[in-house]
Amino acid sequence: MTSPNASCHLCGSDLHVFADFGKMPIANGFLTEDEFENEFFYNLAVGYCYDCEMVQLAELVPPEKLFTDKYPFFTSSSRNMIKHFAEMAEWIAIDLTPGAIKRPLVVELGCNDGTLLTELRAYPEIRTLGIEPSTNVAEIAIINGHNVVTEFFTEGTAQGIVEEYGQADVIVATNTMCHIPDLHEVFKGFQVLLKPDGYIVFEDPYWYAITAQTSFDQIYDEHVYYFTVKAVDDLASKYCFELVDVLPQAVHGGAMRYVLGFNKQHRPTSRFRYMHWMETKMDWDNKVNGDTFYQAAIYQGLDLAMSLVNMVRKDGKRVVGYGATSKSTTILNAAGIAPNILPYIYDTTPQKQGKFTPGTHIPIRPYKEFKDDDPDYVLLLIWNHAEEVLAKEQEYIAKGGKFLTHVPYVRIMDTS
Ligand code: TMP
Ligand code: ZN
Repeated sequence: MTSPNASCHLCGSDLHVFADFGKMPIANGFLTEDEFENEFFYNLAVGYCYDCEMVQLAELVPPEKLFTDKYPFFTSSSRNMIKHFAEMAEWIAIDLTPGAIKRPLVVELGCNDGTLLTELRAYPEIRTLGIEPSTNVAEIAIINGHNVVTEFFTEGTAQGIVEEYGQADVIVATNTMCHIPDLHEVFKGFQVLLKPDGYIVFEDPYWYAITAQTSFDQIYDEHVYYFTVKAVDDLASKYCFELVDVLPQAVHGGAMRYVLGFNKQHRPTSRFRYMHWMETKMDWDNKVNGDTFYQAAIYQGLDLAMSLVNMVRKDGKRVVGYGATSKSTTILNAAGIAPNILPYIYDTTPQKQGKFTPGTHIPIRPYKEFKDDDPDYVLLLIWNHAEEVLAKEQEYIAKGGKFLTHVPYVRIMDTS
């Protein structure tokens, strides 16, 4: 495949690039018309490192292009995610910071608008601190009364935190670690920040959930790494940490929660050992797996584009999009879906409304206008929130409205 010079961002070995989705804009780069001309593009391709086993992007976009003062992702925009964070807060409080620890410190990397920190307030014994480099979302967390360090997490940041607050009992990161190219710096920071018997917890999209569902739209500029149990275990071991538990999560279309501690501090669970063994059986080292995934992804994009063309051109139906997600940038661009077949997308995020989708330039309309629209079909670009959306849109469904999805394969959803 292309990109012969790509090398692993963690260990420098050659990267076997197995999926190339071509020219791609920034996934969260929703833009105005006057910005079309200078839009930034890069090549979206994914590869596998035979040495450290990490699946990763071949080409990286400089972080300053991604997490700026305009970063439009707000965790609390989904009810599902708020529920998820409430459960996570309870799990941290009960399982990881038992009563014997006095005023435990929980530090969250990539705290976004402070959704998890807010849920942790239900446990007043816990002290919290957020770290968030995107200033606009961090400001919301600060307005909500949280302590936030507005910078990228490094060994230096960790030293500063230890001086001011002491070492952390728990370091947590949700959908953050996979965004950070230099994980070595982060793990060095963990060594400084974590108490000897503390826990590191992070959850991110799980590579084998992506391959199992052909949810290739999870692949975009912000997601540098696509973790597996084996790759995380390998990385952790380089910094005297070990992976002791893994907990599959339904969020983000299939994520994995990884629990780590310093070597020999906590007993690895049988669940971890089982998942590790399962991944060995997956035999990802076999090149065929990458090629099969790529072929399925290309077919899915083509199938979606052709289905839309048939619905609109042949059958004269009206299809609109639902959820201007970062994921949708990958599928819309890879499949070449433009306003001629998908004229606009509804979205609840005010910062996106009135703007256009990256690359494909589809207008984004405020969600509140959806109920007066009555399109024949809705393309569900937030397929990972399907349950929440279908529950919310019973009125549209009762009127005969239909949802089209592309994950794991292109079809009209059964809403009966
Ligand atoms: P993301 O997948 O990149 O986080 O984007 C999710 C987008 O979907 C965000 O802009 C909010 C929007 N959204 C809706 O429009 N309606 C919904 O019901 C939900 C859950 C999200
Ligand atoms: Zn490597």
